[in-house]
Amino acid sequence: MALKPVRKAVFPVGGMGTRFLPATKAVPKEMLPVVDKPLIQYAVDEALAAGIEQLIFITARGKNPLEDYFDIAGELVAELTARGKQAQLAALDGTQLTPGNIAYVRQQAPLGLGHAVWCARHIVGDEPFAVLLPDELLWSPEAPCLRQMVEAYGKVGGNILAVMECLPEHTDRYGIITPGKADGLLTEMTGMVEKPRPADAPSRLAAVGRYILQPEVMGVLSAHKRGAGGEVQLTDSMAELIGVQPFHGFTYTGRRFDCGDKAGHINANIALALERPDIAAEVRAFIATLG
Ligand code: G1P
Repeated sequence: MALKPVRKAVFPVGGMGTRFLPATKAVPKEMLPVVDKPLIQYAVDEALAAGIEQLIFITARGKNPLEDYFDIAGELVAELTARGKQAQLAALDGTQLTPGNIAYVRQQAPLGLGHAVWCARHIVGDEPFAVLLPDELLWSPEAPCLRQMVEAYGKVGGNILAVMECLPEHTDRYGIITPGKADGLLTEMTGMVEKPRPADAPSRLAAVGRYILQPEVMGVLSAHKRGAGGEVQLTDSMAELIGVQPFHGFTYTGRRFDCGDKAGHINANIALALERPDIAAEVRAFIATLG
């Protein structure tokens, strides 16, 4: 039977961003800029580059700036047009999505990533879907992570998670997979556990925020079972389906910045600034003064 294409993507953007207070008191963490684009734009661009047609944002109170950002800013566009500011108008290009291609669902209560994904169940329906965690900036513009995963999905189907090797002492920050047989960048998964202590970790292969999942995961999530940290964990729902459905880890080999973390966010700004012809020299010169 032909595989159903991955057309929909879920973006859990309801988190409170407590690691970035006070900046995130009044601004969603997804709106913090990396150079001149908010974090969310990178995840949306990655999804679109992978052929995703419908974006589903799982939001919360205080996240309205995200909706405004992906809307048309009428007054701004009129003003820039009147003044002939073509470059600034072009900068807005990626922010204006086709009407109807983006949907917003309120999560209502912060019950965990699994609960956030479950909130998308009616929109996802009976199709495979992607999940992108925007905190994780996976930067490989020539071969975006989700696009590579969609290609891999075309070959093996089932469920696929992006993984990277983490430091042994950091297993308790991630979902960690139990690896089976490996074939190139794909590794069969025989288990998965959320944030194990280093001594209990089945491997160092950590989930880094990109998933292609089958709709059956929604059924498992509907039980609202609490896991690590008292939250409904996406990891636990996947672990329950391993053995019932195929699951693969896809080893991502590009650059990754954990922008939910202060240092990761600053690193992303520096690394991406150094790729911008208009500012790279100035930034490089400043870094040289730091010794
Ligand atoms: C979430 C997932 C975890 C994954 C991580 C990637 O954890 O639960 O499995 O490894 O994202 O960033 P969080 O960082 O939201 O605690």
